[in-house]
Amino acid sequence: MDRYCVMGNPVEHSRSPWIHARFAELTGQPMDYGRRLVPLGGFAEAVAAFREEAAAQGGRAGGCNVTVPFKFDAAALADRRSERAELAQAVNTLRFEADGSVYGDNTDGVGLVNDIERNAGRPLAGAELLLVGAGGAAAGVLGPLLHAGVRRLVVANRTRDKAVALVQRHAAPARAQGVVLEAQPLDGMSGLARFDVLVNGTAASLAGDAVPVPAGVLREGALAVDMMYGPAAAGFLAWARAQGAEPRDGLGMLVEQAAESFTLWRGVAPPAAEVLAELRRIVDTRA
Ligand code: ATR
Repeated sequence: MDRYCVMGNPVEHSRSPWIHARFAELTGQPMDYGRRLVPLGGFAEAVAAFREEAAAQGGRAGGCNVTVPFKFDAAALADRRSERAELAQAVNTLRFEADGSVYGDNTDGVGLVNDIERNAGRPLAGAELLLVGAGGAAAGVLGPLLHAGVRRLVVANRTRDKAVALVQRHAAPARAQGVVLEAQPLDGMSGLARFDVLVNGTAASLAGDAVPVPAGVLREGALAVDMMYGPAAAGFLAWARAQGAEPRDGLGMLVEQAAESFTLWRGVAPPAAEVLAELRRIVDTRA
């Protein structure tokens, strides 16, 4: 039985073991998926230990998911990286190859795109999208959002320079995809009422701060997605509803990024929508 796990710090509340156990059950894949609390500064050692332990028990480690704060360590550890991981400068999925090398991918962005398009039923082609935040979470999803065929994408951040840097790093793929990509400061955007989709990739709610988006930037009926779920997303979802938008938490993105990792490891696509519906019965932040 191949072994997988999620590595992070903290990691005890991660839903990934539950999600992957359901995927394995529903697709009949023989795999085991656990969780590992990794000490800060000890990522490479933790990966090596995971692989050695699996081998010592006569099994094989197939890969792992990587969460905060180790996505940059995972990118450095990988021998090869996907194009989207290079662009994000972060890796959330490692696959241990038969020759002993490590492949790194980032499935966060495609997870978000798939959730918006498949689960929320909103095609991104031709849309005007506002991405708020320019930290690790925003960087992880920008490349795949550009690939989804949006017409225009604005990155807005409290610290404008970080948005500018992120936009500059993505200038070539934006040009290749024909997307108008620009950086703007968060203040000074109000009243534009032009965005079809808003993605909140800031950590404002974790700091207990208000939603960092000016009122009136969304078209009536726009989709407003928070990358967070559970209590951390509640304030944003209430704000979105008050704006006349359709609120959406990050639970769908979580399941879809997991589905992409699972497919990368096992070569089989799991029924993500079904597992998302099950997970919603356990964690519901929409109300
Ligand atoms: P993560 O990995 O979660 O993205 P990060 O890299 O520290 O964490 O980035 C946090 C993001 O949330 C940044 O875009 C940050 O804005 P700044 O670049 O200006 O710091 C944003 N953020 C955090 N608290 C915020 C707040 N109260 N209002 C607006 N933006 C906030």
